[in-house]
Amino acid sequence: MISKDQFSHYLIGDSAIDNSHWALLTLLDSIAQITNREALVLASESVLADWAMHMVYEEILMRKVRFPYAHVHAEEHNRMLDNLRDLHEEALVKSEYTATTHAKRMLDMVLAHIDHYDMQFRPYLIGGT
Ligand SMILES: [Fe+2]
Ligand SMILES: [Fe+2]
Repeated sequence: MISKDQFSHYLIGDSAIDNSHWALLTLLDSIAQITNREALVLASESVLADWAMHMVYEEILMRKVRFPYAHVHAEEHNRMLDNLRDLHEEALVKSEYTATTHAKRMLDMVLAHIDHYDMQFRPYLIGGT
């Protein structure tokens, strides 16, 4: 799990997005502690649902602040959701696939997205929402 200090590097500047990112990261941290397979699958489904809702909010906000690369970002959201679904499917079929591995793979994907894509529209939020 990343600390609040490390998380400050990933702040976008919109409190709803930042809180949502933190909630997703916290959820992934709790997934890493799961030892029951059924609970892992349910928690993984919850990540997919939460991430999909998060993406919708971001895409609305990007249009609101007239972020010029909103369509590229939205395409990346769709690609990432597909990749998260693939990880989820792997977690379903591979019995050796541990919660720690699953959480780490999803965490790496989420952090890379925030760092590369979400940070791009940070300047458009200054003085915005
Ligand atoms: Fe995001
Ligand atoms: Fe995003």
